[in-house]
Amino acid sequence: MKLTVLVDNNTIIDQYYYAEPAVSYWIEIDNKKILFDVGYSDIFIKNAQLLGIDVKEADYLVLSHGHIDHTGGIEPYIDYAGKKTKDISLVAHPLAFSRKTYEGFGDIGTRKRQKEIETYFNAHLSKKPVWLTENLCFLGEIPRKNDFEAKEPVGMVFENGKKKPDVVVDDSALVYRSGKGIVVIAGCSHSGIANIIEYAKNVCGSEKISDIIGGFHLLNAQKVVLEKTIDYFKSCEIMDFHPCHCTDLNAKIELGKHFPLQEVGSGLILNYA
Ligand SMILES: [Fe+2]
Repeated sequence: MKLTVLVDNNTIIDQYYYAEPAVSYWIEIDNKKILFDVGYSDIFIKNAQLLGIDVKEADYLVLSHGHIDHTGGIEPYIDYAGKKTKDISLVAHPLAFSRKTYEGFGDIGTRKRQKEIETYFNAHLSKKPVWLTENLCFLGEIPRKNDFEAKEPVGMVFENGKKKPDVVVDDSALVYRSGKGIVVIAGCSHSGIANIIEYAKNVCGSEKISDIIGGFHLLNAQKVVLEKTIDYFKSCEIMDFHPCHCTDLNAKIELGKHFPLQEVGSGLILNYA
């Protein structure tokens, strides 16, 4: 599997790509091309062009969850891909298109609702895991089993005409079954990075973890949350760590005391066996 970071909060020194506080990855595996999240704006298209990637050639568009820093690029993508969108399977949790708001920020959810999305893409919305290729799986709804993650709502969500605190039940991730263990590819980990890893292990029937990449949702995290996350990571066999996006500097410093962290930025290319 080859994973190219199209968009991240960071850039890498001497590599001239655009960045924004958002996520978009391009994944090539088993002769399929997967676009995982589309960032906040159109820069994923611009960076892809600079990297020699044509994002309209995607077989799948996977959305990690329905926040605008992961889905804001849908409109520019529709404009760019034109009729090609009909050939692209959009995979996401069914609640990724609910209206979401955050006090002081207004609407923070996907700009297009499910019905509109279905007019452009071949939509496959699922709470259950979906194997996109022989070795790459969209995890669907993540069971929240531990006592320290996914406790705080992120603004409000409108479902069936009712407004309620949003625990981002639509938050999901991808898992790749590599020869060296699983690779977990997260968007924002609102469901908890430990919960995601546990479920990914379960779905793949594998204990070994080759890499975890993405936002770990450790943003102004309480000390106890950081400690329990570190304890959890210590209990696993994890070879590589690529925390980014919504993993803040303090979390990286704390994680870095225990684990060999690697830098992530727009343009980073990772190859997995
Ligand atoms: Fe995010």
